[in-house]
Amino acid sequence: MNKNSLGHIVGGSIIEGLTMRINHHTPFEDLKTGKFVSIHGEKQQFFCLITNLSLAVTHPDILLFPPTDEETLLKDALRTKDIYATAVLRPMLVVSQDGVPAPVKTIPPHFAPVYQATQKDIARIFGDEHDPSKRYFNIGSPLDMDAVVCLDLERLTERSNGIFGKTGTGKTFLTRLVLAGLIHNDKAVNIIFDMHSEYGLQARKEGNKESFVKGLKTLFPEKVVIFSLDPASTRRRGGMPDVELTLSYSSIAVEDIISLDAELRLNPTAYEAAYLIAAKYKKRWLEVFLTQGDNLKEFAQEVGAHPESIAALYRKLISIERLPFITSSAEIDVITQMMEYIDKGVSIIIEFGNFTSTFCYLLIANIITRRLHALYIKKTERFLGSQRAADEPKKLMITIEEAHKFLNTQAARQTIFGTIAREMRKYYVSLLIVDQRPSGIDPEVMSQIGTKIVAQLSDEKDIQATLTGVNNANQLRTVLGGLESKKQVVLLGHAVPMPVVIQTREYDEIFYKAMMHHMAGKPVKQLIEELF
Ligand SMILES: Nc1ncnc2c1ncn2[C@@H]1O[C@H](COP(=O)(O)OP(=O)(O)OP(=O)(O)O)[C@@H](O)[C@H]1O
Ligand SMILES: [Mg+2]
Repeated sequence: MNKNSLGHIVGGSIIEGLTMRINHHTPFEDLKTGKFVSIHGEKQQFFCLITNLSLAVTHPDILLFPPTDEETLLKDALRTKDIYATAVLRPMLVVSQDGVPAPVKTIPPHFAPVYQATQKDIARIFGDEHDPSKRYFNIGSPLDMDAVVCLDLERLTERSNGIFGKTGTGKTFLTRLVLAGLIHNDKAVNIIFDMHSEYGLQARKEGNKESFVKGLKTLFPEKVVIFSLDPASTRRRGGMPDVELTLSYSSIAVEDIISLDAELRLNPTAYEAAYLIAAKYKKRWLEVFLTQGDNLKEFAQEVGAHPESIAALYRKLISIERLPFITSSAEIDVITQMMEYIDKGVSIIIEFGNFTSTFCYLLIANIITRRLHALYIKKTERFLGSQRAADEPKKLMITIEEAHKFLNTQAARQTIFGTIAREMRKYYVSLLIVDQRPSGIDPEVMSQIGTKIVAQLSDEKDIQATLTGVNNANQLRTVLGGLESKKQVVLLGHAVPMPVVIQTREYDEIFYKAMMHHMAGKPVKQLIEELF
């Protein structure tokens, strides 16, 4: 038995996981579910997560006469042989002697030793953040290990992705980290619908004393612009929006109103009425409609709609009139402006300032996304026609918080977000959805999510939803259940070769330095020395 090993394999199967008998000298209270270990088979290494721990005895009679607390000698004697602990190891990946990782189709022999994975193992599996391709981004470290786990950003941008966890687990911090990676390494252009103004200039950090962290605009002033719906609020926080976002009434289509259905709760006949108005007044439909306050009955007659439907529609939509950023004549078309930035590779943060109602968030996100998506379809078609590299659209990732409001089963069928999630980046557009209630998201959309980053969730339904369509769901469930309440997540899916539990990278001065100075190649130690 090797002294450095944690234990050795005594049984198990691919489906149920392998059983490790833990060596008596291994302090087994240090072994946790989610820990990353490697079994050294004869020809290959099996990388596993610990998914369960149990106590065992060689003979049941031992339990009938347990040693007292004073009988330490007896306890020690039993511990060398007769009482022990076992761990269930879920093999996720095998690496052969030539270093090629592959799916698990075989098992190690009896008594194969198990070790803690090494830094070298982790780098071989998850990639090296200093790789010149810039595709690997340091997102954290495995539990209780000083090593770097990277996300493969190229693969991340190939699908829509999700960040889930209950409130306060660090979703927004993680999202900001991932976005910083995409921006820093130029892997995607981002549009971020920033409901609580947490991404642009700065964001609050919870803690004993009030403190702030730097936002993406502060970290990447040349690669990020802020479009603000509430410029006064942006200024109060010490920044200048690059663009004051205004939209004209004519940019709101009936489809945008329908996508607010969860908020508006209107009868289908009310939407039919909206279509009737649009049929008559075309793009001016909403502007004309909202001026009919005293005249609704006649107006219903004029367009041929039911008066009650018209009245209900009016009551719900009149609140649009109070939104100062919706104007009758927006001189500059903000969507064209956004497209110009995107073409230059500049990411866009849309700040809502004090307009934090769900109604407003859904309305704006839908209008903008629908129009950008339409432009992206044209761009893609142009590229497919010309096949010139210069025409290839830049990958666009759209970040939305409270995603279940956009992607619940009903909304997913009607809204642009459902379309984007389902078409799987055919037009170079994908989503980054952030949510604390993943069970509220349509299961079909969930099954299309490429990479999931999952923090602690307490509701069983939510846990189940994040594991839809995932291999080894049962074993991962115990790992998810064992996560701490902050800054710990399970990474799984397309952008990682195997599921892994990580301690999230700290969003702090060292991180800023790594992002701002483009210091690829400098080890963290050196960065720390330079800082202090
Ligand atoms: N990577 C990190 N680095 C530093 N601090 C972090 C990190 N992740 C989380 N935190 C701390 O945890 C707090 C909560 O994180 P965050 O605001 O991201 O949670 P959340 O899941 O988005 O919550 P909510 O659902 O309420 O929006 C932060 O204010 C910060 O203090
Ligand atoms: Mg948040």
